[in-house]
Amino acid sequence: MRGRAIVLMGFMGTGKSEVGRRLAQRLGRSFVDTDQLVEERAGKRVAAIFAEDGEPVFRGFEREAVIDAAGRKSVVVAVGGGAVLDPENVRHLQESGILIHLTARPEIILGRVGDAKSRPLLREDPRGTVARLLAERGPVYAAAADITVDTSERTADEVVGEIQSALARSERWKSST
Ligand code: S3P
Repeated sequence: MRGRAIVLMGFMGTGKSEVGRRLAQRLGRSFVDTDQLVEERAGKRVAAIFAEDGEPVFRGFEREAVIDAAGRKSVVVAVGGGAVLDPENVRHLQESGILIHLTARPEIILGRVGDAKSRPLLREDPRGTVARLLAERGPVYAAAADITVDTSERTADEVVGEIQSALARSERWKSST
């Protein structure tokens, strides 16, 4: 899979962007974050798109961002936590490379998302919403994943090391490099 994408997906607060940036740096790849692509295209922050245009408009931008990111060579991609709920997005990402699911326990997620201001879905009742969305989305993430790495008690650099070891063990990754 030389040239193929390494895609980080999973729930908000699992460290996709931070880990992705560091992994890309370590591998000499470029890093692309679909939320960032959305913000560039929309000319405003994700929270503003949700507030002013609504979630369906955000999901439309996100779909374009996934296609854009999945088409790039030798990248590490971090996708927003809801991106893989769309089966078409999963198809594009699976065709582009390998999918790594980052997980974390609910209390760790709640600690990392802080006051949740920049996470429109967690504005109200963050604790209840995290529990509900994790229950709804867990099976979807698991079904899409080639590799799963828990980030709960790990630093971003430790997670990067775990991902590198998992890739070195992955038949799917090795068979195409
Ligand atoms: C979302 C996650 C966010 C962002 C948007 C919706 C979700 O990205 O795309 O707020 O549906 O889980 P992060 O997972 O990077 O926080």
